Amino acid sequence: AAIGPDTFEHEQVVLCQDPASNLKVIIAIHSTALGPALGGTRFRAYPSDEEAVKDALDLSRGMSYKNAMAGLAFGGGKAVIVGDPVRGKSEELLLAFGRCVAALGGRFITGPDLGTDIPDMEVAARVCRWTVALSREGGDAGDTSGFTAQGLIHAMRAAARYRWGSTSLQGRVVGVAGLGKVGRRLVRLLVQEGAKVIVADVRAEPVRRVVKEFPQAIAVEDPEALIRFDGMDVYAPCAVGGVLDTAVASALTAEVICGAANNQLAHPDVERRFASRGMLYLPDYVVNAGGAIRAAGETLGYSLRESADKVEQIFDTTLQVLEHAESAGILPGEAADRTARRRITAAAEDQARG
Ligand code: PHE
Repeated sequence: AAIGPDTFEHEQVVLCQDPASNLKVIIAIHSTALGPALGGTRFRAYPSDEEAVKDALDLSRGMSYKNAMAGLAFGGGKAVIVGDPVRGKSEELLLAFGRCVAALGGRFITGPDLGTDIPDMEVAARVCRWTVALSREGGDAGDTSGFTAQGLIHAMRAAARYRWGSTSLQGRVVGVAGLGKVGRRLVRLLVQEGAKVIVADVRAEPVRRVVKEFPQAIAVEDPEALIRFDGMDVYAPCAVGGVLDTAVASALTAEVICGAANNQLAHPDVERRFASRGMLYLPDYVVNAGGAIRAAGETLGYSLRESADKVEQIFDTTLQVLEHAESAGILPGEAADRTARRRITAAAEDQARG
């Protein structure tokens, strides 16, 4: 990526490495205006280091907006470890990563994300105080994924109310793309809600697992087939970002898009394309904030009950964003961006005044 006018949007970007364990990590702190930067650690093989850096910059900005919209006193950051999360992970690497986070002295607080899990964070936590989402056995809250999935249900209910006049998801056809930590929990909750669930993943194994556990769920052959699936009420992208591009915006027929993935829009214009086709895109960082809410709650000593109550507020926040967009004549994505930026800027100005 070239150095340009937006290069210095972020407060701090750190590149760390540990040649002995093959660790290469980018830690991007987008903003600490609202509080310490909170965000997960992603472990992924990227086609190039440039793309990894770009992902870290985009994901950390997303975390600032997410935390601001969730009303959390936390800024936004993200760590991106470059490598294969299956073959490239080792205890040495995770310890080296923990030391990189520790060196930031609490400006960045992290937990699991795509490619990392609780045991990984437990290893890093041996050398670093700034990790959250540790295991329940350790007296901590455990995985944040269940909270993210529950938050999506609240957001889908808000969209259902706005769009169809009732918060019920009973009988609604919901497509879940990506059956990782959040996707499979979302399937369980949707089945409990009486929704008809269609699932897809790039890997065969998670699909087999989910269909075995929930024989009601229908599997299609791959994520592309899910996009072409006719008659979906809600489409929920729950894997990597950037999946909503112009081709998808033309092929998809779901009425509502509401998923867990971060940075779903390949380009901001894609939302306009959805709107022109009468489809409603719910801003990703508003609806997928459940995990961040729990991570923040764990840091602040909230009980699981208190965190669940705060996650429930995603229902109101989603409706407020939709109503704001409608009254201002703008798209929901723009409405959410404006509110998030206003909160971050106000906090930054307060900070500057001291
Ligand atoms: N990784 C999840 C997210 O992107 C949840 C999480 C948030 C984990 C913040 C740790 C810290 O929202």
